[in-house]
Amino acid sequence: MLQTLDVLEQDATRELAAAADAASLEAWRNAFIGPKGKIKLAMGAMKDVPKEQRPAYGQRVNAIAGSLEEQYKAKLESLGGAARPVAKGPRVDVTEPGVIQSDGIGRQHVITRVRDELVDVFGRMGFSVATGPELEDDEHNFIKLNIPPDHPARDPIDNFYIDDPAKHPRPRMLRSQTSTVQARVMEKHVADAAKAFAAGTGPQPRGGLTGPIKIIAPGRVYRPDTVDATHSFMFHQIEGLYIDSHVSMVELKNTLLQFARAYFGSEAEIRLRPTFFPFTEPSAELDLRIRLRADQPLRWMEVGGCGLVHPHVLQACGVDPEVWCGFAFGFGIERLAMGKYAIPDIRMLFENDLRFLRQL
Ligand code: DAH
Repeated sequence: MLQTLDVLEQDATRELAAAADAASLEAWRNAFIGPKGKIKLAMGAMKDVPKEQRPAYGQRVNAIAGSLEEQYKAKLESLGGAARPVAKGPRVDVTEPGVIQSDGIGRQHVITRVRDELVDVFGRMGFSVATGPELEDDEHNFIKLNIPPDHPARDPIDNFYIDDPAKHPRPRMLRSQTSTVQARVMEKHVADAAKAFAAGTGPQPRGGLTGPIKIIAPGRVYRPDTVDATHSFMFHQIEGLYIDSHVSMVELKNTLLQFARAYFGSEAEIRLRPTFFPFTEPSAELDLRIRLRADQPLRWMEVGGCGLVHPHVLQACGVDPEVWCGFAFGFGIERLAMGKYAIPDIRMLFENDLRFLRQL
């Protein structure tokens, strides 16, 4: 009987040495030292052992069991951990709704939101969105807008030129106003109308165009201004252009009033102050009378310029001023945002302080 124990020990030791991973070690444990393993069977076989051999048999089987248990633990450790993964700690209810991390979720910047709101308001008034490049040339930023070469607005001190205007015939620059898009849109309409007519797919243009133009153009503009509570070297404008056969100041004023009431509420008022812009004649500065905060009275706030498009601008873009006329306007988006959301300092819009941005 003791010999069968020797064989059992040899088998167990050999097979344990062969167990190379957690699964085979677990199989080994079940086969030899588990509750239904061969050691348990050998212990159960004690009753069949002749009485005089029982003490020796018992000692031997206990010794083997203890030794195999030790070897098993050592092997388990060398394989790097529990062969039988046991869940510890509280159970996780995977069906429980999660905690919403609302403060970690991003949001639109207030300038983006105001831009979209403006696009929406003007969209309902029939304006579609046009865009133009931020890296412009002086032809679109100045010449086509009736700003001649010796005009003070072209001073390098007041503009971000990419090419030296003294050396370059057509210097590139970061656009200083979205009025550039007026010129680009008219040029494109004129070119497209001519092309379509030549291809036989469009009617004959009259005075360069085949119909009205009604666009807004929101975007960034750049000026080397010193940063303070109301100035920044980069800011946003929204430009408007409406070209048709009969457009008057009355229509312009009406459009601006409608816009002011749609965006700032029915009690908003507007005021046009005569001024000068090279690209419009007559020209006006637009003030809005709005309530900055619920607990404050209505106050005037300047938001930009407007006027009837100067005939020179139409001409420079290929549109005949005898046939077409129009109005244009350009507002500062930061100004409108500061009015709408009672923001006292333009710098707050660019500092990316989350404590500020989260309030909007
Ligand atoms: N471009 C002007 C500026 O940046 C604003 C402006 C004035 C735009 C009159 C217009 C306009 O379209 O008609 O100061």
